[in-house]
Amino acid sequence: MKIAVLPGDGIGPEIVAQAAKVLEALRSDGLKVELEYAHIGGAGYDAAGDPLPDATLKLAEDSDALLLGAVGGYQYDTLPRPKRPEQGLLRIRKGLGLFANLRPAMVYPELVNASSLKPELVSGLDIMILRELTGDIYFGQPRGIRTLDNGERQGFDTMLYSESEIRRVAHAGFRIAVKRAGKNGQAKMCSVDKANVLDTSMFWREIVTDVAKEYPQVELSHMYVDNAAMQLVRAPKQFDVILTGNIFGDILSDEASMLTGSIGMLPSASLDANNKGLYEPCHGSAPDIAGKDIANPLATILSVAMMMRYTFAHEDIAQRIETAVRKTLQQGLRTADIAEAGNQKIGTAAMGDAVVKAL
Ligand code: IPM
Ligand code: MG
Repeated sequence: MKIAVLPGDGIGPEIVAQAAKVLEALRSDGLKVELEYAHIGGAGYDAAGDPLPDATLKLAEDSDALLLGAVGGYQYDTLPRPKRPEQGLLRIRKGLGLFANLRPAMVYPELVNASSLKPELVSGLDIMILRELTGDIYFGQPRGIRTLDNGERQGFDTMLYSESEIRRVAHAGFRIAVKRAGKNGQAKMCSVDKANVLDTSMFWREIVTDVAKEYPQVELSHMYVDNAAMQLVRAPKQFDVILTGNIFGDILSDEASMLTGSIGMLPSASLDANNKGLYEPCHGSAPDIAGKDIANPLATILSVAMMMRYTFAHEDIAQRIETAVRKTLQQGLRTADIAEAGNQKIGTAAMGDAVVKAL
């Protein structure tokens, strides 16, 4: 297994170092993993003048899976847009065709009080947001800032989805719903759109409904995105799989992360049609706490578990990593973002070591 490791910016290098410890530990147990490092984001700009250097894209193409930290930093905020760290991320997603972005939101019993919602609303929560990742207003053309005939300036973007883009992500969503049903009984998926206003969404709903005919065992529902945002904080356990487009998924997945107590706990997978994937924590580069050994590495470590599950089909190893994380939490060990009174507060590196020990 060849894994490209892209630490990126801010807390990226610190948290990725902890996930790498887990991979090294698995290697000393006999798993054949090979890690190769490259720059992305601001680090790519610093090293090669490009947030996605050619060498990084080449390595990514030659690897079976990618592990990414985070991108972005204050010092890059004034760069022209093509040079900004975020472009590295968007280009690697698009370049590798990573259209299916899985963002699970799970509440660990140990962290139920860390959520900003009442414990009874979130305890046992286990939902999966499937966000389409390579289309929508993120990539639609034309876009830009123009001057109108009357002299007024105007910013514009284009929201669009083609039928094949909707079909493939809908299939991915139904397959996930079927797989998860074993655990929860009825397979169900809620497709989120804004079909009461947007033509793109009306079309999305039409195609998702059509694909649903191939999955009669899955109960499909539809919800407008504003209502979904409300339902996620009103009664999040009504959901199982949420299927949605790129921009709605961006927003709803941040919202869902807070149900779990800390965005520092949430892993993600971005998969292509063959389950090659890029794995990264859902959170950003948090430049304000970078280099202080206080960031939570668990989302990155849990991203390695997802990598084992989705790209390498090693469900056993995925569960081994997840169990090690659970054990660490059960021992009362916490990074600052998830600590409550009575917990032992530890740093980034110590958390990585504790997970390796529990492995
Ligand atoms: C995310 C992030 C990215 C996105 C940014 C950093 C480009 O917010 O992964 O959710 O908008 O997709
Ligand atoms: Mg986001």
